[in-house]
Amino acid sequence: QNIKYFQEIDSTNNYAKDNFESLKDGTLIISEYQSAGKGRLGKNWQSNIGEGIWMSLMLKPEIPVYKAPFLTLVAGAAILNAFRNIGVDAEIKWPNDIVLNGKKICGILTEMVAEVERVGCVVIGMGINVNTMLFPGELSEKATSLKKEGFELKRSDIIREIMHEFEKLYTTYIEYGSKEEVISVCRKYSVLIGKDVYIINKNHREKVYCMDISDDGNLIVKHDDGVIEEVISGEVSVRG
Ligand code: BTN
Repeated sequence: QNIKYFQEIDSTNNYAKDNFESLKDGTLIISEYQSAGKGRLGKNWQSNIGEGIWMSLMLKPEIPVYKAPFLTLVAGAAILNAFRNIGVDAEIKWPNDIVLNGKKICGILTEMVAEVERVGCVVIGMGINVNTMLFPGELSEKATSLKKEGFELKRSDIIREIMHEFEKLYTTYIEYGSKEEVISVCRKYSVLIGKDVYIINKNHREKVYCMDISDDGNLIVKHDDGVIEEVISGEVSVRG
């Protein structure tokens, strides 16, 4: 495994995207601190020194662009499996949040550089709160860390476990196109299935019932008028 390790960087995702041509497929970029860590939807991601695992996996799979978004769920399932191997009973809030005891412990930000319908590179950014004890403002109610929840774990052990689990699921998906194992893990440990959830679009929020995750990895929801819809991406909340 190729690893690039930084004390400080703006964002490991940016580094991976900017340098993908000279980086080997499968390079893992890790930084102790990110000065401009990115979350989804343009939010920033607090990446203090020593508090977490801030890393990006840079991949160059030979797949068409439309097959790339599923890799977020592959990473989610790998993180769930890895956590559970080391005794952390985490769950997934489809499609990119890993949750422990109802609070977010890890976020995934997948980005891509596309070349005429083929993937140039896919960058899977993972931010895992390991040692954080204080979250600012409203984050204190929504976010947590492994340490806060009572787990003293070495970051290197967690990374190794995640990479090991990822490789198995990734190979199966890329070589055989099989999504089964990933979906079954995401279904089994889903915080959304069987609940009323809120779908959030810009200023609009709608309460729907979450029925399942489809065999393709979409969220199957039922609207109040009985219409069933597959949601392919987006912001879903369990809180009002
Ligand atoms: C989210 O939940 O909004 C996604 C958070 C992703 C954070 C990680 S930390 C490593 C990588 N580099 C970034 O700038 N962001 C991702």
